[in-house]
Amino acid sequence: MNADNIQIDYQGRLLHFLSLEGLNRRHLMEILDTAESLLGVAERRVKKLPTLHGKTVVNLFFEASTRTRTTFELAAKRLSADVLTLNIATSSAIKGESLLDTLRNIEAMQCDMFIVRHGQSGAAEFIARHVKPHIAVLNAGDGCHSHPTQAMLDVFTIHRHKPDFNNLQVAIVGDILYSRVARSLIQALNILGVTDIRVVAPRTLLPVAVNKLGVKVFHNPHDGLQNVDVIVMLRLQKERMEGALLPSKQEFFQCYGLTEERLALAKPDAIVMHPGPTNRGVEIDSRVADGPQSVILEQVTNGIAVRMAIMSITLGNHARPAVVDNL
Ligand code: NCD
Repeated sequence: MNADNIQIDYQGRLLHFLSLEGLNRRHLMEILDTAESLLGVAERRVKKLPTLHGKTVVNLFFEASTRTRTTFELAAKRLSADVLTLNIATSSAIKGESLLDTLRNIEAMQCDMFIVRHGQSGAAEFIARHVKPHIAVLNAGDGCHSHPTQAMLDVFTIHRHKPDFNNLQVAIVGDILYSRVARSLIQALNILGVTDIRVVAPRTLLPVAVNKLGVKVFHNPHDGLQNVDVIVMLRLQKERMEGALLPSKQEFFQCYGLTEERLALAKPDAIVMHPGPTNRGVEIDSRVADGPQSVILEQVTNGIAVRMAIMSITLGNHARPAVVDNL
């Protein structure tokens, strides 16, 4: 394990997948190439590979999720793992058990991988630092900090439509301040060599240090969406907002919502993305969300192959105990 970045070992191989920080183009391309090769599994009569046969994967979701939790679960099942999904709302966590105690108990069930979603930034890394060394930890979203598997499924989807990362204009629109999706996606696009990354948002929904993120800042979709290849719309993270940062949802839609008129500012073959859940009439118009340029449901499908790729790469890189090797 590398003390500065616990997700990579001294040979630079991925052991956990906690954030995009410290990763390079080679790490990301390995995930994208592996995901590409796994995409076909869903078309088979038997949608399964033996890669994680005999392994136990635990979904530890301390925060609500539909797409991420279910696609992680399906990804693990398609790799033949045994999967346990812990419903934290009904677990001992609400009875006051600490995160570490919950962890120790699940660890005692001989698990090999934890998929963690938590409202607290840094929770997945905390868990990775405290689990036994044979366990891989994947971050399924921590507070406003990071959502690296979402970023990878986003760049995978972009890559399938627009293969040249060096010649791409991407606009990310909406709540940049509280969005872990935006933070991770911006990092992934930067690593992959995208030079024109735009954020389009009101000042109140931008982080103070936005200029350090390697993006161009626009406060107005009319300027920010001109000629772009990709538009990524974000949900307003109401649950993370303190105080009123916006006059109203209606006003947000009027100023920033993706309508057919605004979409027409982008390249004619631009794609429209959204991590979900979408709030129709708040950040996106139904005609755009369901329209021919929308790849929102493709993102969900691609999420399974991308998560399968990340699971097989990280678990494959973990040193296996000798007894298991001899079996
Ligand atoms: C995102 C999340 O949970 O961060 N959704 C997702 O993972 N599909 C974005 C959001 O909640 O707005």
